[in-house]
Amino acid sequence: MEIYLDTANLNEIREAASWGILSGVTTNPTLIAREKGADFKSIIQEIASLVEGPISAETTSLDAEGMIREGREFAEWHPNVVIKVPSTTEGLKAVHGLAQHDIYCNVTLCFNPVQALLAARAGAFLISPFIGRIDDTGIDGMNLIREISAVYEQADIDTRILAASIRHPRHIVESALAGADIATCPFSVLQQAMKHPLTDIGIERFLADWKSRQ
Ligand code: G3P
Repeated sequence: MEIYLDTANLNEIREAASWGILSGVTTNPTLIAREKGADFKSIIQEIASLVEGPISAETTSLDAEGMIREGREFAEWHPNVVIKVPSTTEGLKAVHGLAQHDIYCNVTLCFNPVQALLAARAGAFLISPFIGRIDDTGIDGMNLIREISAVYEQADIDTRILAASIRHPRHIVESALAGADIATCPFSVLQQAMKHPLTDIGIERFLADWKSRQ
């Protein structure tokens, strides 16, 4: 499974990129809005200069025509830009339309496997099931990844499953086991994942033993 960072914060991206673990970055309007005053195009171009891999930039139009217009503009910013459109019928039209221009799409806000199947049929490069937001409703979000994975396998579909709305390190493991190709993670979740009390105790003990030897 590949790891993407789900943020528009350049400091977080710089830091995670330095760990050598990043295969891409996803943004959304909420994440871009958090970077007060920064220009959308500059953020996406800066991210693309830091990370080699797909960088998702989300459209905000509700109609396919608008999504296609925005998508064609964003795709000019960098060859690695992938256009995010919502799991709606207008989103499907936009995926289909952008494919005519060889522009890749990430179909986002996916909450059921039929949305994922239709997105793939329209030509989506990535499908983004929102695990955490399903969990928040009291339903097991991971089941959606399992179902999409089974449907894609049965239909021999190569759209990549990108587990989104990841809330904790366990979501990363379970997404991989459920068949996701990629997990897009908040920076805090990656930091949390690398923290283990036994690792810290182990380092302390090794250092103490090393010192006692002199
Ligand atoms: O970028 C899409 C998704 O990962 C958002 O997650 O935490 O806002 O549900 P969240």
